[in-house]
Amino acid sequence: MTDDRPFRFTIPIPSAVPSRVDHHIERRLSAMKGQFYDTQAYEAMLANEDLLLYEVYEIKRPEVAGELLMGISVVHPGKVGREFFMTKGHYHTVLDTAEIYYVLKGEGFMVMETPEGICAVEPLSPGQVLYVPPRWAHRSVCTSRREDLVTFFAYPGNAGHDYGTIEQKGFHKLVMEGPDGIEITDNPRWRA
Ligand code: F6R
Ligand code: ZN
Repeated sequence: MTDDRPFRFTIPIPSAVPSRVDHHIERRLSAMKGQFYDTQAYEAMLANEDLLLYEVYEIKRPEVAGELLMGISVVHPGKVGREFFMTKGHYHTVLDTAEIYYVLKGEGFMVMETPEGICAVEPLSPGQVLYVPPRWAHRSVCTSRREDLVTFFAYPGNAGHDYGTIEQKGFHKLVMEGPDGIEITDNPRWRA
């Protein structure tokens, strides 16, 4: 591609909306059916308002090996029952592809697991880099009361997204508000 020139863009703080955005995704409560543990709290919230849980600002590149797909993920603060707002989470369709996240703002966790059931829940705070190795499903969770969790991400162009496995099984671990603060608990509803 002869017209494919190097390019720059800016991620201004505090808004974190990139100066170049090719695609803006908004995920609302209605897109998360079956994902939150407390289904009664979920249905009650949804009946009241289809809240915006998170947004993704994508910079488009060809979805082929050799390219990198980049963007900004913004998870808003809030809870469904005791469970903090989170992304749907996914495996990459090409399982052997990694992803890198750089935390710009907010507090939270990255919940991760492999198809073999090995789990990791890593705290996220500004300035931290999180490396998601190949084969690990990943979901980001915002645990701040007022602030968005804002991350910059980059991953291989050919990765693709498998949402179905997590939609069916869930993650092994949940991030909840407990009486003494944030709790990472086993998901009693995880399906093998
Ligand atoms: C891309 C990636 C992130 C997420 C974003 C929203 O592979 O991991 O850009 O896409 O944080 O989460 P999902 O895609 O799970 O809705
Ligand atoms: Zn990913």
